[in-house]
Amino acid sequence: MTESVFPFLSIAALTILLGGCGDSDNSSTETVANDAHPEQLMVAGKEKFTAYCMSCHNEQSPEDARLAPPPLALQEHYKEAYAEEPAFIEAMSDFVVHPSKEKAIMLQAVEKFGLMPAMGYAEEELNQIASYIYHGNFSKPNESKGESGPLQTGQELAMSTKRILGKNLMAALNEGGPVHAVDFCNTKAIHFTDSMSTAMNARIQRVSDRPRNPNNRANEAELEAIEHLKQQIADAGQARPMIRAEGDGYRFYGPINTNAMCLQCHGEVGSDVTPETTQKIKERYPNDEATGYGLNQVRGIWSIYFEPA
Ligand code: HEC
Ligand code: HEC
Repeated sequence: MTESVFPFLSIAALTILLGGCGDSDNSSTETVANDAHPEQLMVAGKEKFTAYCMSCHNEQSPEDARLAPPPLALQEHYKEAYAEEPAFIEAMSDFVVHPSKEKAIMLQAVEKFGLMPAMGYAEEELNQIASYIYHGNFSKPNESKGESGPLQTGQELAMSTKRILGKNLMAALNEGGPVHAVDFCNTKAIHFTDSMSTAMNARIQRVSDRPRNPNNRANEAELEAIEHLKQQIADAGQARPMIRAEGDGYRFYGPINTNAMCLQCHGEVGSDVTPETTQKIKERYPNDEATGYGLNQVRGIWSIYFEPA
């Protein structure tokens, strides 16, 4: 990675932030494996954590780009409340399936980010994930090391917008489930990206090769970027954001991947997406192309144009 043409492309943390599927630290499983928790179990838990949880609970996100507390904070708070592993696992698994303010122990996080949306995973998977969080060797999120450059700028624009969208989407989901939240996306998503564009003096868009809103259809250059990012995920399991010179400024492309929450509105119709939600989507978007996605797929990309300040 270090001999990358763009020196800033080597910042692994950035990849993970946007990719949501990165794997920065292969060493953490080694130090914790023991008889009761064979390494394989930890690997399974880590894989599932990466696929289901990391898009929000990211170890590397700088504080102002977080969607949820980093894994180290989950570990510390839960160990404080539930010192023994079985109790830790039970409480954490239960929270993921049925989050509520009453059960939450990280009240400041609830205040700051809104309550976590419910996620139905198999008990076995949740136990593996919780066990991984119990034993994992997490680092403190890197304080921003003052990296700068156009890739970093693009990244920050994407993350700030993602944070605002994500936070509000989560609030809408908690308030009235996916049917209600479709209306939120319908009326508010563009509004938020536009107002972010104005605030940041940039042009921030989310585009897709299979758009829900036809205004978000990727152009030719964007389609090429999407194919490139998909290929990277197929080859390497993660995609790196890209930056190009364009006009007087820069064009940033970064992947927008699916997590479990997204599938309520972008997954398989009839199973992930309920009939009620499907009907609502059809009403608002008669030409919708944006269902049938699985976990950790490229749902679209950030396409951001900005000029140096
Ligand atoms: C869509 C974003 C999102 C995803 C994905 C997500 N979480 Fe969360 N999670 C949050 C937010 C926001 C909070 C902070 C608010 C809260 O505590 O409810 C949170 C809080 C938590 C907490 C602390 C709850 C408490 O007691 O306050 C635990 C434990 C947790 N998440 C586990 C998980 C696990 C395990 C996964 C993967 C299976 C996961 N989360 C996936 C958003 C997410
Ligand atoms: C409550 C339903 C809902 C959920 C949950 C949801 N979306 Fe969407 N999504 C929509 C709607 C509706 C639109 C169209 C918004 C518009 O009209 O601008 C959309 C549009 C998008 C777009 C813009 C391109 C397009 O197809 O128009 C992207 C990218 C996207 N969603 C990604 C995601 C990701 C990633 C997640 C999970 C983190 C997610 N969405 C969760 C309903 C949802």
